[in-house]
This record gives sequence, C-alpha cells and structure tokens, in this order.
Amino acid sequence: MEPTNQAPQTTQTANSSGQPVAKSLRVLALEQPDNIKRIVHVVGLPFDLAESRLDNLIGYDDERKEIANAVRTGQSIFLHGRPGRGKSHAAAGAMWFWLRRNLPLVEPLQPGVTQNSPAVDFAQARLPIWTRFSKVLREIQSTYKAESSASTDGVVARYAKAPFVVFDDLGTEKGSDWALQVMNEIVEERSGFMRPTVYTSNFDLVEIGDKIDHRIRSRCGRCCRVELKGTDYRLNGRREPSKLMQELLEDERRAVAESIKPKFRMLGEKKWTLDENGTFVEKPSDY
Ligand SMILES: Nc1ncnc2c1ncn2[C@@H]1O[C@H](COP(=O)(O)OP(=O)(O)OP(=O)(O)O)[C@@H](O)[C@H]1O
Ligand SMILES: [Mg+2]
Repeated sequence: MEPTNQAPQTTQTANSSGQPVAKSLRVLALEQPDNIKRIVHVVGLPFDLAESRLDNLIGYDDERKEIANAVRTGQSIFLHGRPGRGKSHAAAGAMWFWLRRNLPLVEPLQPGVTQNSPAVDFAQARLPIWTRFSKVLREIQSTYKAESSASTDGVVARYAKAPFVVFDDLGTEKGSDWALQVMNEIVEERSGFMRPTVYTSNFDLVEIGDKIDHRIRSRCGRCCRVELKGTDYRLNGRREPSKLMQELLEDERRAVAESIKPKFRMLGEKKWTLDENGTFVEKPSDY
C-alpha cells in the first residue's frame, strides 16, 4: 500500500459547549492515546515529557509564541537556561506542535497492513527523533570500533535526514575531536537543508563556542534563540506519574517480557533459574 501524503482533510467534532470544531486529521490522530504512546516509543521521547506541550509550559507566554512561530516557519530553535527551567519540556512541546502540522498519515487499518508494512516504515521514517547530544557523540564513537555493526555514514544519515530532531543537553559531553567533527557534519547538513532542529543547553552561545565547538556555536546562532529564565520546576516537589506515564511503563515492561520470551519458559509462580547444564531448576527464594 502506498503511504497517503495528501493535505489533511478536516472533520467536525464538538467542543465542550457543543459547538462544532473543525480539526485536521493530524490533530485528531494526535489526540488518540494509542497514537501518542506509539509516537513516544518510536521517537524515543522520555516518558516524563510525553505530556509536555507548549500549551502547558507555564510562565513563558512570550517564549511559547516565539517557539511556536519558529516551528510554523520551519526555523531551528536553540533553547538555553539553567537546570529545571523547562528547556526539555519546551523542546518536547515544539516537537508535538510540529507533529500537529506534519504527522505522517498512513491509511488506517487497510487489510494486510501490519507493523512491518512499507507504509508503516515510511511513516516512521517521517517521524521526529528525540536524542541527547552526548548519546549521538557516543554512537558516533562506537562506530569506530572494528566490531561495530553500525557505520558512521549510517549514523550521520539517520540524524541528518530525519525531518525533525531534538538534540537535548548540548554541552554535557565534548566527545573526541573526530566524533565532534562527524557531529558537525550532521549539524551542518541539517542547517544547510533547513531541516528543523531543536538544541537545548545549559550553556549560552559563547560558552558553547568555548567549551564545545565554534562551528556548532555558529550554527546554533542561526537558530531562533530562546532563553528560559524561570524557576527550577524540579524543586517544586515530586510529581506522581500520570496515567499515560504508567501506561508507557507498562508497555515497556511488556516489550521486555516479549523480548525475553524466546529465551525463558513461563514456569508458573515458582522462581526458576538455569543451572550450569542449561536445565531449569527451582531457585531458592531470596525472601
Ligand atoms: N514552565 C514549566 N511549566 C510546566 N512544567 C515545567 C516547566 N518547567 C519545567 N517543567 C517540568 O519540570 C520538569 C523539569 O523540566 P525540564 O526537564 O524541561 O528542565 P530542563 O530545563 O530541561 O533542565 P535540565 O537543564 O536539567 O535538562 C519536567 O517534568 C517539566 O515538564
Ligand atoms: Mg533537559
């Protein structure tokens, strides 16, 4: 099946006072919890940012407008500020806002469409990537090892070509000169082809130039730059995980259980372990 990529149609639903509201198919798709969960897993978004939207970024009215405007006009964004000020929240908000305008729509539930269909691959390739700057540096570095199955070009292509990428926490790690050079290639390609990118950092541009790299500083300088100067939200106390976060954790637990299924037999309530001959034996209880 070919992926559908037409302009989103709109459809009518009612708001709380019964007034009809026209919503695009993208917005409707994004309001479905199952789709949100799928996107969180595929994009790699940390679960605690699954509900972070520009709408619920408190106390930053002007900054919110600037970020939304940058997303609308396809500009990249550089968010900086001290810890807990809401940079990752704002970056996630920008990502969800981008999805409201660009979510790839795949014809729903056609017979024969499975998780492995080309249309689904296409849709996933058109989804954003959420990553940490230091993680990409480490991924690049690991391709240098002879036993690595990933190639440096593969890593560059993945991050350079994705339609929207968040590089969170720029500056926590510097990486080797070579990894940084490859990282520069990614940043440069994204910037040159005007692929929207969000960078977040505890550092301002001058510090990025001094601590990390002057070329990366220069690329970030071209972005829409927003400083978040509010209070540290993490000091406001512990938040209970929301229903959505609990469901995401449950999905993850189930996925782990699925992935170990072929290796372990389910053996009822008793605790079992493998002995040195590969035989299941009852494990003495630890408690
Ligand atoms: N202005 C805000 N409105 C609503 N929630 C916020 C706000 N600022 C922070 N939070 C919440 O507080 C937590 C910490 O915020 P966040 O992770 O965005 O901080 P950060 O600036 O990225 O910090 P760091 O520099 O340590 O990465 C998140 O759960 C986020 O949703
Ligand atoms: Mg952060």
